[in-house]
Amino acid sequence: MTTGQERETNDSHAPRAASAQTPSGQHLSGPLDAIHAFQTTHDEHLPDRLPDDPFPLLNDWIEYAKRERVQPNPTAISLATASDSGMPNVRIVLCRGVNIEQGSIWFFTNGQSVKGEDIAANPRAAVAFHWDALDRQARVRGMVEPLPAADSDAYFNQRRWEKRVGAWASDQSRPVKSREALEAKLIETLERFGIDPKNPPPSDAEMDIPRPPHWGGFRIVATEVELWVGSPARMHDRARWTREEPGTGWSATRLQP
Ligand SMILES: Cc1cc2nc3c(=O)[nH]c(=O)nc-3n(C[C@H](O)[C@H](O)[C@H](O)COP(=O)(O)O)c2cc1C
Repeated sequence: MTTGQERETNDSHAPRAASAQTPSGQHLSGPLDAIHAFQTTHDEHLPDRLPDDPFPLLNDWIEYAKRERVQPNPTAISLATASDSGMPNVRIVLCRGVNIEQGSIWFFTNGQSVKGEDIAANPRAAVAFHWDALDRQARVRGMVEPLPAADSDAYFNQRRWEKRVGAWASDQSRPVKSREALEAKLIETLERFGIDPKNPPPSDAEMDIPRPPHWGGFRIVATEVELWVGSPARMHDRARWTREEPGTGWSATRLQP
């Protein structure tokens, strides 16, 4: 599995001179101040020639958002699922990695949660990244599958022990009578792992807390990606890539905003 995390960015998000058309059809390609109303907020567009594969560019965008540190959660995604009856649901999760070669992104959660139940019944999902401070949006749709257990273990085992205990203590999405009842559940879980709640070890302590069988990663293997760059004049730049199925070639289309 690759993350592409150390990849150098290409120049796809370097400032680019704008080239646009006015509402009356006049072509604009002159100095930036002459086309002010049509510049994107960050003076950038998607590449004129759209790349064949959107994933290197998507990964660059994610890495760029992380580096820029302009948002507290640059990898936050709105994850939409639907139940077997077709009722949609959406919530934020963190995108924990990108596999550029496969064209997938992945996240971790409790498989017995509402989203886990949706995915079990209907293994499709849509996600949106919104980098508000960068005026960018990215959307991904595709089929969802569990990550191999070894990958879930590797991720779980490098988490701080408190988070690993939390994964056991919380039956995510299930009702609980009160905050007090939730805290009692946490204390009970700590004691089950031989941890004194009144005198817990430091956060970086090595603790043997295995991954709960119902907790793990899912990857969304994309069949559709859309990248969006905002513009003050609402002439946003959009492109969509689709492919019939994973492993086949992408087809790219520029879209009207
Ligand atoms: C910034 C942020 C990041 C979150 N990251 C995750 C995550 O990575 N995994 C997760 O299961 N829930 C995460 N949550 C909580 C979910 O939004 C949601 O409340 C929870 O997963 C239960 O959703 P469900 O009942 O629809 O399954 C996050 C919430 C926020 C606000």
